[in-house]
Amino acid sequence: QIHPVLLSGGAGTRLWPLSRAIHPKQFLALTSDRTLLQETAARSLGDAGFADPVVICNEEHRFMIHEQLHGMGIQPQTIILESAARNTAPAIAAVALWLMDRDPDALMLAQPCDHLIGSLPDFYLAVAKGVPAAQAGHLVTFGVVPDKPETGYGYIRTGAPLPGVDGVRAVEHFAEKPNAETAEKYLASGTYLWNSGIFLMSARQYIAELERLQPDMVTAVREAIAAGKEDNGFFRLDEGCFTAAAALSIDHAVMEHTDKAAVIPVEMAWCDVGSWRSLWDVSHKDDDGNVEQGDVILQDVTNSYVHSDGRLVAAIGVKDLVIVATDDAVLVADAAHAKNVGKVVEQLRRRN
Ligand code: GDD
Ligand code: MG
Repeated sequence: QIHPVLLSGGAGTRLWPLSRAIHPKQFLALTSDRTLLQETAARSLGDAGFADPVVICNEEHRFMIHEQLHGMGIQPQTIILESAARNTAPAIAAVALWLMDRDPDALMLAQPCDHLIGSLPDFYLAVAKGVPAAQAGHLVTFGVVPDKPETGYGYIRTGAPLPGVDGVRAVEHFAEKPNAETAEKYLASGTYLWNSGIFLMSARQYIAELERLQPDMVTAVREAIAAGKEDNGFFRLDEGCFTAAAALSIDHAVMEHTDKAAVIPVEMAWCDVGSWRSLWDVSHKDDDGNVEQGDVILQDVTNSYVHSDGRLVAAIGVKDLVIVATDDAVLVADAAHAKNVGKVVEQLRRRN
């Protein structure tokens, strides 16, 4: 069976001031009346092939996640709690080990909770293609055909088609978040895909590869599971053991080094809502290219994203701006620079 794995981490810096440490972007309803977490959970409903999801998140978010899923009638198999973030490689390892105790042949569909997928039929088709490859021991990623030289994504250079599994290719190499110049080259080459960060693989095979590449990490996570505690629908990883795991992403820890990587090219109107710019890209815009949310009045404004959580925001004669007003902060940024909002958050942290 395919077990949807919902990865909910994130420091809540990229969409500041709307997202915060206690309220990262996956808990926000940004483009519909459902939050990104709810959209992700909903993606693996209504198909007989999917088990109930397993969620892994910071313990501070447990009630928010429980409520948001419960609100949609979704009962997760468990919600695994991290006391500190150790990035995606240990998080996915924890889920894999938890699942293997219950379903030794478990396939995991690991999904970030902050993505949008416009074409679900294409996504499901790609997942179905991935199943035989994952069963055969491949770590399958979904590669999105790029349409711009995005520097916020990792890239995958595709290799030859894999024999015997339709629509699946070998991975020549992974290149995590290139600079602008390299991204341009990748786009022009036509042989690179965006790494969607969505993975389909058998729990057993993931642990086997991790054991080879990061044996200490597997030991730490195994101990964190062994000393962990069931707690009313939650599973609390042992804090001391889990913290000992190296904080590495699955990309750096496994995908860049394994020869088991495979990729399925897919066009599914996918995007990681990783910045104000990408949110503006995917939002519904008026004739002047503006996105207006909340109490907003605009005069001669074009191509801007203007959001107010309460008080009236008015803007006159500006273009290409991101303006976001919340109860305690106002952001005004040139759209081209809005991705640097993380630097503001860094300064804020130093202040506190
Ligand atoms: N539970 C848990 N614990 N989840 C985590 C942790 C953690 O410690 N760290 C990250 N996550 C979750 C995030 O919430 C997000 O849903 C997902 O894992 C990916 O992490 P990001 O921090 O958003 O990664 P990224 O967007 O910079 O880069 C990755 O995703 C891109 C596509 O969106 C890479 O895989 C890139 O190569 C890829 O293109
Ligand atoms: Mg992301």
